[in-house]
Amino acid sequence: MRIREHKGTTKDGSRILIRSLTEQDAEAVLEHLRQSFLETEYLSKYEDEMDMTQESERKFLKILEEGEMTLMLGAFESGELAATVSLIPISALSKMKHRGGLGISVKKRFWGRGIGNLLLQVILAEAKWAGYEQVELEVVSENERAVRLYEKSGFAAYGRRPCAVKLRDGRYMDEILMYVQLHR
Ligand SMILES: CC(C)(COP(=O)(O)OP(=O)(O)OC[C@H]1O[C@@H](n2cnc3c(N)ncnc32)[C@H](O)[C@@H]1OP(=O)(O)O)[C@@H](O)C(=O)NCCC(=O)NCCS
Repeated sequence: MRIREHKGTTKDGSRILIRSLTEQDAEAVLEHLRQSFLETEYLSKYEDEMDMTQESERKFLKILEEGEMTLMLGAFESGELAATVSLIPISALSKMKHRGGLGISVKKRFWGRGIGNLLLQVILAEAKWAGYEQVELEVVSENERAVRLYEKSGFAAYGRRPCAVKLRDGRYMDEILMYVQLHR
């Protein structure tokens, strides 16, 4: 689904535009993801595991835009895509579609300026209108920046998945399971 545009300001006063991503953004989204997978080990993939083409990404963004509850937003600074966030029902089954799964990534050079926080505030507000009652996510336990961001927005931990991630160097990382309930 498409949301109306939002404007925000970073901690250092730069202007940020937050809007729905559409099929026209496919190239920028792919580039953003490629860079994000290279910059952090806290996302689910290695960069060389990316299997999306521009065409498949374009189709995927179109499906999200046309979906009743599927949200994919971008935060832009001076026209550059700095961050993305998605919210998708954890299941299409009617008993579970009140629960959304959230994923967020900010390019490293934009970290620590409040963009993650802005994007999260916008998507949580829009989530209520989209019909979600609960938003859920998994975060690597060592990802203190992300855990802090989610806690600030009211997310609480409800469990821990041991050794959820195994890195190529053999290290394991646990995941913390978090959720927030949205109140109308
Ligand atoms: C996690 C992420 C989304 C945060 O985005 P961001 O734009 O840097 O976040 P913000 O600037 O809004 O900061 C959020 C909070 O992080 C906390 N924070 C900042 N630096 C920190 C650090 N080094 N350690 C712990 N917490 C830190 C601050 O408390 C800040 O809140 P504040 O505004 O009260 O100071 C971003 O770092 C990112 O995309 N990381 C890589 C991908 C990823 O980990 N995604 C999440 C997967 S679950």
